[in-house]
Amino acid sequence: MLLLRFFFFFFFKAPRSVLDPSVESYAQLCSNFRVRMRSTPCTPVVGLLRSGNYAARGRDMACLLEGPLRISVLSEVTATSRHYVDRLFDPDPQKVLQGVIDMKNAVIGNNKQKANLIVLGAVPRLLYLLQQSSSSDMLRTECAVVLGSLAMGTENNIKSLVDCHIIPALLQGLLSPNVSFIEACLRCLRTVFISPVTPVQLLYSDLTVIPHFICLLSQSLHTQEYITQIFSHCCKTPDHQTVLFNHGAIQNIAPLLNSSSPKVRMQALKCFSVLAYENTQVSMTLVNVLVDGEPLTQVFVRMMQRDKPIEMQLTAAKCLTYMCRAGAIRTDDSSIVLKTLPCLVRMCSKDRLLEERVEGAETLAFLVEPDVDLQRIASVTDHLLAMLADYFKYPSSVSTIADIKRLDHDLKHAHELRQAAFRLYASLGSNDEDIRKKITETENMMDRIVSGLSESSIKVRLAAVRCLHSLSRSVQQLRTSFHDHAVWKPLMKLLQNAPDEVLIMASSTLCNLLLEFSPSKEPILESGVIELLCSLTQSDSPALRVNGIWALMNMAFQADQKVKMEIVRSLGTDHLFRLLSDPDPNVLMKTLGLLRNLLSTRPHIDQLMGSHGKQIMQAVTLILEGEHSIEVKDQTLCILANIADGNTAKELIMTNDDMLQKIKYYMGHSHVKLQLAATFCISNLIWNEEDGSQERQDKLREMGFVDILHKLSQATDPNLCDRAKTAMQQYLA
Ligand SMILES: *[C@@H]1O[C@H](CO)[C@@H](O)[C@H](O)[C@H]1NC(C)=O
Ligand SMILES: *[C@@H]1O[C@H](CO)[C@@H](O)[C@H](O)[C@H]1NC(C)=O
Repeated sequence: MLLLRFFFFFFFKAPRSVLDPSVESYAQLCSNFRVRMRSTPCTPVVGLLRSGNYAARGRDMACLLEGPLRISVLSEVTATSRHYVDRLFDPDPQKVLQGVIDMKNAVIGNNKQKANLIVLGAVPRLLYLLQQSSSSDMLRTECAVVLGSLAMGTENNIKSLVDCHIIPALLQGLLSPNVSFIEACLRCLRTVFISPVTPVQLLYSDLTVIPHFICLLSQSLHTQEYITQIFSHCCKTPDHQTVLFNHGAIQNIAPLLNSSSPKVRMQALKCFSVLAYENTQVSMTLVNVLVDGEPLTQVFVRMMQRDKPIEMQLTAAKCLTYMCRAGAIRTDDSSIVLKTLPCLVRMCSKDRLLEERVEGAETLAFLVEPDVDLQRIASVTDHLLAMLADYFKYPSSVSTIADIKRLDHDLKHAHELRQAAFRLYASLGSNDEDIRKKITETENMMDRIVSGLSESSIKVRLAAVRCLHSLSRSVQQLRTSFHDHAVWKPLMKLLQNAPDEVLIMASSTLCNLLLEFSPSKEPILESGVIELLCSLTQSDSPALRVNGIWALMNMAFQADQKVKMEIVRSLGTDHLFRLLSDPDPNVLMKTLGLLRNLLSTRPHIDQLMGSHGKQIMQAVTLILEGEHSIEVKDQTLCILANIADGNTAKELIMTNDDMLQKIKYYMGHSHVKLQLAATFCISNLIWNEEDGSQERQDKLREMGFVDILHKLSQATDPNLCDRAKTAMQQYLA
């Protein structure tokens, strides 16, 4: 059964390797064989490429494993490769062992040889020998070593090995009592698992694997190195973190930070960085862990010292950053302010490799993102802002031949550098006005953002728009640099067609550009943005709905009648009222804000209430009766107060006794904010000097409002007291 299974996978996947350009000669060779050998019964190579039925293939495979290959005409190199495979089938175990050892020596550093052996079917045979209980430890170990060597070749090699089910076979091997064999298996597993083509999930599919790995940590420095390296590459999701955490990864790996082997120390450190990333449970545990009596955080701090390898400094800084972001370390803790932050700033300097500068800036951006004090400190550490400007100078000009190699390297990292710099600028400028000013004053900053917004790399575009968003929180910048550089143009372009992630940032930035003091508001309005924003409010993403409606709300603020009518028309009243029952409270809140802005200044109020009064009153009723937050109710009462300010619109309230009772109820509410808004409503209704004010005053007096106002005029809240007194005066005048 085992043979059949191996065969099945090998059979199906082998053609992919065959088609790989690096083994092109083989593809040809093999297809020739197909013709040549069709008449011969039980010929493995025919089986290899023929698309026969499954059972037939199974038989062919058995041949492949049981007898040496009989092949006559081969080119010299292939003949050698085939000879290596043939020897694995020798009936004499001693000869098989020698064959494996010779194969090991032949493949070292020889990618072509590796590919040949894989195509010729060495892998299933090696796996078979590795799993046979009759094989000696020596033979099994050598098989694992050869497989590890094959894995060191190209990504295609790894794919072929994984397709041959090498992973379960090696995991099975870990149950052996022989440590040398275990090490060889782990070494091969390490090579396979750190490859991007291997699905990490394979590590977690059998629940007994992780605990067994943890047990093997005590075996040797090698098992420690390989296992921690596998963990740090295969821990990619919160679920993976939880599995490792639950099996005691932290307690078992912590002592390795003080290992005598630098490799083990480094891999153990990397494990902690992936375990702690955005994980509160792990981070909270880490602060209480001791390594040889020393708190883990102190160990990390020591690892950030300048005399330590850069990779170690950077990884230790990541660990502390993640712990801090998860709330396990305070942002004002000296390990963060005096150690982690300066270490990360150092990583951004020109002396560091481009990769290190990217990681340094990204990690620093993550660290300072939520904390204005850290932003302030970072922005004045080692001229960080100027240092980041250098990130945009890649690839730099080429003057000599020797530069060409560097150019290639620069090109590879140019996007990464730019997005990292934008991200860090975005974080640094997210709260402090002075920092934003300094950022915009950095050389060519606005031009860089503008060109970043239309770069082909989506990562760069996203980071550029984040940066713009951060800077758009500044009234000053909106008035000056944003206008001077007409950033709204590329921003609008970005909004036409982008993934949600970018759309969310871009539309959020647009909200700020539509604030009434922003000089960009006019040109944006003229560019026909309303349709676009209305379409955002139809999105499945709550964040996009919020941003769309928010931008419309800003647009409607003190807008002229024409713009307001255009918004209502474009949005459609049905959709507008649907948004009032949106499951996301932020959408509801901004939609109410929009209504409030639409319903301001008397002529606008009367016009809108004239055309949509009934629906609006219904919506207001529903919200006032529903289960909503104080903010939502307050906003709704403010809308009602605006309606009460209209000339004709106020009749919609006066003729609605149910609504008047609601106002009364809110005047006696326990929340002052709501009392204020409701009192404002009444005050507008009874205001003197307006047509029919006498009748309204009489009616409301009859309904007991004067008594309530009287009571409120003695309220402890000074605003409420004033408001009530002003209202009462309308009766005296
Ligand atoms: C383990 O296997 C190696 C060969 O890889 C062998 O030399 C050694 O004797 C074996 N150890 C034990 C305890 O069997
Ligand atoms: C491990 O830690 C102890 C105590 O801090 C120290 O004395 C020892 O030298 C460390 N071992 C290594 C290998 O660094």
